[in-house]
Order: sequence, then C-alpha cells, then structure tokens
Amino acid sequence: MIKLTTLTIAIAAICSACSFAASEPIKIIPAAVITNPEKVELGKMLFFEPRLSKSGFISCNSCHNLSLGGVDALPTSIGHNWQQGPINSPTVLNAEYGLAQFWDGRAKDLKEQAGGPIANPKEMGFSHDLAVDTIRSMPAYQARFASVYKTNGISIDAITDAIAEFEKTLVTPNAPFDKYLTGDKSAINADAIAGYQLFKDKGCVRCHNGPAVGGTMYMKMGLVKPFHTKNPAEGRKGVTGKEADKFVFKVPTLRNIELTYPYFHDGSVWDLAEAVNTMADIQLGQALTATETKQMVTFLNSLTGEQPQIVLPILPPSTPNTPKPVPFAD
Ligand code: HEC
Ligand code: HEC
Repeated sequence: MIKLTTLTIAIAAICSACSFAASEPIKIIPAAVITNPEKVELGKMLFFEPRLSKSGFISCNSCHNLSLGGVDALPTSIGHNWQQGPINSPTVLNAEYGLAQFWDGRAKDLKEQAGGPIANPKEMGFSHDLAVDTIRSMPAYQARFASVYKTNGISIDAITDAIAEFEKTLVTPNAPFDKYLTGDKSAINADAIAGYQLFKDKGCVRCHNGPAVGGTMYMKMGLVKPFHTKNPAEGRKGVTGKEADKFVFKVPTLRNIELTYPYFHDGSVWDLAEAVNTMADIQLGQALTATETKQMVTFLNSLTGEQPQIVLPILPPSTPNTPKPVPFAD
C-alpha cells in the first residue's frame, strides 16, 4: 500500500513535469539518433576536408569551428584568399531545426546548403566538379562512398548528402534549461528562472521559440525601430524580390548563444547584454532595467548544451591525381 502511494506520487510528479515541458514555448532538444554511423563518419571527414576548397586550406570547420560553438567568432567570415565575407557565420549546431538554411532562408535544407560554400568564390572558391575530382582521386574515399551509397562513382549529391547527415548529429542536448524543463527545478538558478519569465512576458518568445529557440520563422530586423548597420544584406528580399521582405531574416537560434558571438547578421555586437537590450528596444519598443537584462542573460546562458564530442577524423593522403591547391590566387 505504501509502495503504491509512493508510486502514484512519483507518477504524478513525472507527469506534472512532462505537462510543464509540453506547454512551454521552448522545447527540449533531444540527443541525436544515429541510424547510419558509416555515413555520419564520411560526412564528418568531408566537414573537416580542406581539400574541398581551392586553397586546400579552408574546410567547413574553418568558419563553423566545432571547438567554438560552430562559428568562427568573427564579425564576418574570412574566405578564399583572405576575402572578407559578407555576413556573420551562423552556428551549425542545431541548424537542422531551422525552417530553411542561411540568414535569408535561400537553401531549403542542410543538403542543399552544403553545396553553396564549396562553389562560392568568396568562401571555399572551388567548383563542384573539382570537388568531386578531388574526392574521387583518393582510393580511401572511393571505398567509403561505395560502401555507403552502394554505387561506384562519387557525385556532389552524395558529398552534400553525407555532410548533411553529419550536421544532423551536431545537436546540443541536456542544457541546464532542458533539465529545468524536464522537471529539475534546481537545474537553473533564480535569476535564470526570472529571465525566462521575462523572455516570455516581454514577447521575445513570439519570435524565438521551439527546440532551437529560433529558426521557426522569418521576421523583420528592426520591427519597431530601425536597425542601423553598414552591412548591405537585405534578407528575404534577396530571395522573394519583395520590398516588404527587406531586412527580414530567419530568426536565429539562441541555443549556445553564449558561445556564438559576435551577434546579429552583421556581427556588430560582441556583448550578449547589449544584444538583449537592442532586441528589446528595436523589436519590442521596450527598455529593460539592468536587473532584467542580467536575468535575461543568465537565462540565455542556461541554453548552452552538451557540445558534440568529436574525434578528429584522419583524412586520406592526396594522390598524384588529386588537383593541386591554389592558395594565393583569386
Ligand atoms: C568562408 C567561411 C565559410 C565556410 C568555409 C563555410 N561556411 Fe557555412 N556559412 C558561412 C556564412 C557566412 C554563412 C551565412 C551565409 C548567409 O546566410 O548568407 C553560412 C551558413 C551556413 C549554414 C546555415 C546555418 C543557418 O542557421 O542558416 C550552414 C548549415 C553551413 N553554413 C554549413 C556549412 C558547411 C557544411 C560548409 C562546408 C561545405 C560550410 N558551411 C562552409 C561561412 C562559411
Ligand atoms: C519580432 C521578432 C523578434 C523578437 C520579438 C525578438 N527577436 Fe531576437 N532576433 C530576431 C531576429 C530576426 C534576429 C536576427 C536579426 C539580425 O541579425 O538581423 C534576432 C537576433 C537575436 C539575437 C542575436 C542572435 C545571433 O546569433 O546573432 C539575440 C541574442 C536575440 N535576438 C535575443 C532576443 C531577446 C532577448 C528578445 C526579447 C527582448 C528578442 N530577441 C526579441 C527576432 C526577434
């Protein structure tokens, strides 16, 4: 009888936690489920493969450094031949939760996205044909592709497919805030709890919601007051051609936001407190007190999850057939 009562209480406690989690606008990030480890491993090799760039020096990891929260921590990226990139590099962590990829959503998913930087003259500066020739020139890659894709021959389609499969594993579960959502009320402190309440009450959550605390919609940067920037990016307007979409960007994820400075698409703000105050001002027309800002930042810092544990891949050596790197020319 005593046992039964304890059990009933335990079940009631678990279910109050699960209904709390279910009713909140921010959802838990589950751990990655890996169904095809061989494809993920191949994708990881390609993510770290600098020979997919003209210089033989720039890999996806150069600008989405997995030691640095999946970003390069620069205002805008450095591309081929030291070219200044046009926009801040968003994190690859939890990117799959985005409704589309890029600040303006011009790629529909991770696979479509992955083809972009390889052939972008300002990023990796290569071409898809050369990328395929490069990978095909190494027997170890040929064997891996044959085993994963069950065909001989390597295509850009398979290369981007494998990279996307790896990126899907780059999730960051078990943040203190997730533990709080699942019922561990001591997982975050009182300031963070107050900050979360403010995040909801002030209206941040209207745009930053879902598992990634963002990525679910496009919204105007400078909804209430204009955002001043020298960066020429026009956001969704570049995709739809509509004037109404000028300065409309994908709402970025706030997961791991403590790690993904500097902030905004122009990378103009280094301090999270300043980013929070700017948002309150130009998106909501509100001024926060110093205490409110501090609480909000404490909450945001509780969104830092377990970072992917990466064993650095060892890449196969080049062969005489591997195209030579061209590091110092446009
Ligand atoms: C030279 C730096 C650079 C390199 C190299 C690079 N990226 Fe990016 N990446 C960026 C920048 C900058 C953006 C944002 C561009 C935009 O939105 O217009 C971006 C955007 C992305 C996004 C979209 C994230 C989001 O939330 O919208 C993903 C995913 C991504 N890159 C993955 C990759 C992969 C995979 C590779 C390797 C094939 C790669 N990147 C190589 C700089 C780089
Ligand atoms: C109307 C929608 C909207 C509201 C409300 C809103 N945001 Fe944002 N937020 C965005 C968009 C869009 C961006 C990207 C803007 C850009 O860089 O051009 C952004 C960017 C951010 C960034 C920088 C992320 C990065 O990686 O660069 C932070 C931090 C942030 N928001 C926090 C907040 C906080 C805190 C609030 C509430 C005070 C809030 N936001 C309210 C839409 C919104």
